Amino acid sequence: MNVLRLRCEYQTNPLGIDGDRPRLSWQLVSTQRGTRQSAYRVEVSLRKNGSADLWDSGKIKSDQSVHVVYAGQKLKPGQRAWWRVTVWDEAGKPATSTETAWWELGLPGVDWEAEWIGSPIVGGKKAATPAPHLRKEFTLPKKRIVHARLYATALGVYEAVLNGQPVGDEVFAPGWTDYAQRVQYQTFDVRAQLTPGVNCLGAILGDGWYCGYVGEAGHRETYGEQSWFKARLVVEFADGSTQVVVTNDQWRTASGPILAADFLMGEIYDARRELTGWAVVGYDASTWLSVRINTALPPLLVARLNPPIRRILEIKSISQRKYAKGWTKQNWIFDLGQNMVGRVRLKAHGAAGCTVVLRHAEILKPDGTPYYDNLRSAAATDSYTFKGDGIETFEPRFTFHGFRYVEVEGLEGEPLPDAVTGIVLHSDTPPTGKFHCSDPLVNQLQHNIEWGQRGNFLEVPTDCPQRDERLGWTGDAQVFCRTAAFNMNVATFFTKWLQDMRDAQGADGAVPSYMPTAHGRGGDGGPAWADAAVIVPWTMYQCYGDRRILEEQYPAVVRFIDFIKAQSKNSIRCHPATKCHAFGDWLSQDGTGTPHEIIGTAFFAHSADLASQMADVLGKAADAKRFATLAGKVRLAFTRRYLTGANFLFSGTQTACVLALHFQLIPDSARADVAAQLVRDIQKRGLRLSTGFVGTPYLNHVLTETGHLDVAYSLLFQKKWPSWLYAVTQGATTIWERWDGWTHDKGFQNPLMNSFNHYAYGAIGDWLYASVAGLGSDPVKSGYKRLVFRPHPGGGLTHARAKLETMYGKVESAWKVRLGGKQTEYVFTVPPNTTARAELICVSKSKVKHGTGVVQLARRSDRVVLELKPGKHQIIVG
Ligand code: BGC
Repeated sequence: MNVLRLRCEYQTNPLGIDGDRPRLSWQLVSTQRGTRQSAYRVEVSLRKNGSADLWDSGKIKSDQSVHVVYAGQKLKPGQRAWWRVTVWDEAGKPATSTETAWWELGLPGVDWEAEWIGSPIVGGKKAATPAPHLRKEFTLPKKRIVHARLYATALGVYEAVLNGQPVGDEVFAPGWTDYAQRVQYQTFDVRAQLTPGVNCLGAILGDGWYCGYVGEAGHRETYGEQSWFKARLVVEFADGSTQVVVTNDQWRTASGPILAADFLMGEIYDARRELTGWAVVGYDASTWLSVRINTALPPLLVARLNPPIRRILEIKSISQRKYAKGWTKQNWIFDLGQNMVGRVRLKAHGAAGCTVVLRHAEILKPDGTPYYDNLRSAAATDSYTFKGDGIETFEPRFTFHGFRYVEVEGLEGEPLPDAVTGIVLHSDTPPTGKFHCSDPLVNQLQHNIEWGQRGNFLEVPTDCPQRDERLGWTGDAQVFCRTAAFNMNVATFFTKWLQDMRDAQGADGAVPSYMPTAHGRGGDGGPAWADAAVIVPWTMYQCYGDRRILEEQYPAVVRFIDFIKAQSKNSIRCHPATKCHAFGDWLSQDGTGTPHEIIGTAFFAHSADLASQMADVLGKAADAKRFATLAGKVRLAFTRRYLTGANFLFSGTQTACVLALHFQLIPDSARADVAAQLVRDIQKRGLRLSTGFVGTPYLNHVLTETGHLDVAYSLLFQKKWPSWLYAVTQGATTIWERWDGWTHDKGFQNPLMNSFNHYAYGAIGDWLYASVAGLGSDPVKSGYKRLVFRPHPGGGLTHARAKLETMYGKVESAWKVRLGGKQTEYVFTVPPNTTARAELICVSKSKVKHGTGVVQLARRSDRVVLELKPGKHQIIVG
């Protein structure tokens, strides 16, 4: 047995975190079956390989190997703690980690003694200004530098430069928060970039979310009038002395080649105005202006919590062509083959002063020209003016677009072979899962789900990445977060967004429809949107076993439940006699759709139920009881009001039935009838769904659980809209916002709301992983401590496989149909230090063959239940 993959707060060796009680996790790796941890000991030192001077947990008899809370001495700001762990296996044999593992504290509670600095040039609500360059030269003594950290942040977005070299590889730092309340800072190890003697520190500032266009507001200056930069550089020398350099009135500023840069509008770059060598010592900055200082800025500085945005991938264009004959333009259209989010790197040549313009579109119109209408007011246009210096390369710095096609105007002659490359940007959430099956269209659907996630997990979970919206909509995040946690590790991504949510929550407990809030928009997000306050933390707990997410969110949950309780009448949320904001079953195909009060009351019961479970996990027995009683009361109210004596659900929409069944709102005796009501509606529509954002995520789960697996598979394989595969058959490479974003008979849907990259309907991914392939976690022993494999072969698929990198290691659940359907072969991988149960479908005469480490727990006519030890298992049923 080895002890590997030491993580602190989900990260390998995090630099610059906040908090006195970081959590430590590790994995056991073993070739033996049944490996389990019987005890651990964590030793933490101020020195590498040092004695446990900060903390020695002692030998703790426990199988806990994730989220072990550090309980040693409090670190000082900037201090690093080195740690190792010894693990005893089930036979009492120890193994000690050999990886270098540490974490380093940021600057919690430290006064940076630095000013917010910016340009004296200020724009207006509609008038952008050039991106300010800021610089400062400083002298370090001629002593050996042993340690150097740059702590930096901005109101706006920034890129720091030290002695001409970029600092770090983050894009759009410091990220997006409600800047009136808090802003994140980054910590960089810059020792290798410094030299004794004179050095130069610089930064370029962009508008970003702080002062650019955000959402539908139609103007700039969302949080403030101009961007600001703040930094503290701490350098330590071999003799123990230190020197600190901060942002202050000694800095100088000038405008450079970025004449304007905005997330929605794009970037305007004039290469003739480049400030060559501006961040290198000796540059003549005599014409540069003094910086403006702002002492009135309030926000709390907090260490970065979520993964940074990075350049994740590059995509080469798959084709290029000139506008066809008969068209008036002389432009080129490049196809990247994938609807992506980021920007383009352009390589081209041109005479000094000539400009190329790049416009970005997700899709082409039937006549082959780019479709821009759905961008609404987002210009999504970059331009580059040549300096006339041979082949020039341009990648905008402070903008991003959602696109597959790039229209380029103003190229001289034929494009170079690598004229256009797509640079994919997103939050660097590590990939964790893969789903694959025997149907290529379903595999393309999984691909589209992953790309919907890439495109919209950019700092916060956004609805869409292309039009003038790109907001952290709660409803969308709530429906997709479970799927997201299969595809990538999104624990810290959502931890940070939940902080944004708490910053946005009203004094009355209301949770708004998106966050970070902007333009002062608060209020109640309404059913299925605001309920993200409960569903998202609970889902993260299920996926990562992260109790702290619950602890931190719990007070907000209590206030939210009390808010909806107060807002309801006779336990009916959105009762017609009350005032209630609601989006309904957004974009459903049900005409007037499912009444708001049905959705409201369903989510009221569900949220109260989850709150009760949270309270239980947190050891708050009285609250657990209070919320359970409340949930029961709401369920009863739901049944009384919407279920007839003949077990027929009022409204009868698919979503109403799905919610009643999935949230267990109606008595068991009524479930079969309501499920039949749901199936009748699906059949009546030619085996098609009618659900919108609210009902869709649970639809196939409900059908599977109520014995209608065949109907669930029919919906999965349906190719006529509304269906998941319709868009796939139309060549989609991401998930569309609407089932009918484009159809042969109607053409494009309403351009005011027609995104081709909206992840919400991608929530079917959860069903693919958890039900088709059967990879799941026990809700009580969460975070895959106890695995539950419940595969559902069917739908004509001949194989399916899901893989997931969990906190405990790799999990796999796969099946293959053999001998023309007479047998099914299953493969399960169970990581060390977990337990697993597999529930396999069979018929009464089926034989179950397996190797060692498998114990049969139960056998029914249609199902066999097995207990699996850690290790890889092959099981044949048939
Ligand atoms: C967004 C949605 C969001 C909705 C609220 C839209 O404009 O794109 O995805 O949830 O507003 O209903």
